Amino acid sequence: MSMLSSLTQWVDDRLPLTSTWKAHLSEYYAPKNFNFWYYFGSLALLVLVIQLVTGIFLTMNYKPDARYAFASVEYIMRDVNYGWLIRYMHSTGASMFFVTVYLHMLRGLMYGSYRKPRELVWLIGMAIYLCLMGEAFMGYLLPWGQMSYWGAQVIISLFDAISPPLALWIRGDYVVSDATLNRFFAFHVIALPLVLVGLVLVHIIALHEVGSNNPDGIEIKKNKDPKTHIPLDGIPFHPYYTVKDLVGVTVFLALFSAVVFFAPEMGGYFLEANNFIPADPLKTPPHISPVWYFTPFYAILRAVPNKVFGVLAMGASVVIFFLLPWLDNGPVKSIRYRGSLYKAFFGLFIVAFLILGYMGTQDPNLWYVNPVSRVCAIVYFAFFLGMPLYTKLDKTKQEPERVTE
Ligand code: HEM
Repeated sequence: MSMLSSLTQWVDDRLPLTSTWKAHLSEYYAPKNFNFWYYFGSLALLVLVIQLVTGIFLTMNYKPDARYAFASVEYIMRDVNYGWLIRYMHSTGASMFFVTVYLHMLRGLMYGSYRKPRELVWLIGMAIYLCLMGEAFMGYLLPWGQMSYWGAQVIISLFDAISPPLALWIRGDYVVSDATLNRFFAFHVIALPLVLVGLVLVHIIALHEVGSNNPDGIEIKKNKDPKTHIPLDGIPFHPYYTVKDLVGVTVFLALFSAVVFFAPEMGGYFLEANNFIPADPLKTPPHISPVWYFTPFYAILRAVPNKVFGVLAMGASVVIFFLLPWLDNGPVKSIRYRGSLYKAFFGLFIVAFLILGYMGTQDPNLWYVNPVSRVCAIVYFAFFLGMPLYTKLDKTKQEPERVTE
């Protein structure tokens, strides 16, 4: 026995190393027809690692104190060796996290990956998404720029509409202050990352329990080799998909580097000009809007004239995703075999989501912003609320027996 295999044996007798490798990689059988849309789970995992590593290095020089926070970020940018790189990787990573997660969720919608037996994979995914929103919101306060300060002020004051003591409890003060910065720092660097990593682990364990869906939306476990019990349409995740995912990683890192090195502010979408001005509690910026990944929901909030109902509508627009597994009555999972009714609702929903995202960045005093946001908000909710009915009425196509190439 070689040194390596005896060492592996020694570890295996004490820790399920080889069996875990087999169960989750070399003998985890994934459908052989994964396409482009299946890159984004592993890419989200990559961004998570980038955020954790760059975050650790940022924390070494950042000061969570309202007097020094802004200056410490400038110090990182100007004086810390490669501090600019670490910070731009972290700020770009925040936006790229949402790019990958939104595309990952879109894949789930297209192929019906939220449906039986993957309801828990979806619900855990939604918990990850909520956690990610909290993580991004709290991280945004830390540079203590004008937009950090006023963005937090606007969002926390939404809780005032529901319950003023709740808003006070979140801020730890009557306005956003040093107390708020300290607690957001604690949540951003330790509490939420721990929860996020834990949830991602559970997400993957739950997925591997039921097996991956695929672009045809059919269960590969229904067609197994009678002798080996291996799905006939399955291939081992390693090496086939580890190699495929490496291609995705390479292309992603090229795009990521292009942003980090050539356009870290991304025209104000990733880093806003106002956030290069230190927070000033006495000077409200003329136009406050959140970062692009929150703007669809922000547009829904503003589309409703009443503040309490606006907050409720905004909350509902996120929470409603949790219900998807029980709203869909269609006999098929994948959009490939759905009828034109479903496709029309789905297409309108995607367009409404994108327009809402744009409207959320615009000045609400422009004449078209509120009317257009209202129409899009109605389309948005119609996609979910009408789903039990239109998926039942939809004329679907026959699913194939085996996955198609
Ligand atoms: C940090 C964020 C996330 C990470 C790292 C992550 C990771 C992964 C990975 C590695 C996979 C398997 C590979 C793949 O199918 O692409 C997966 C599958 C899946 N994820 Fe996520 N995920 C995240 C967020 C989410 C969110 C927000 C949702 C939805 C609300 C979600 C829903 C799903 C579903 C439904 C599947 C199964 C897809 C299928 O088999 O077709 N995930 N995830």
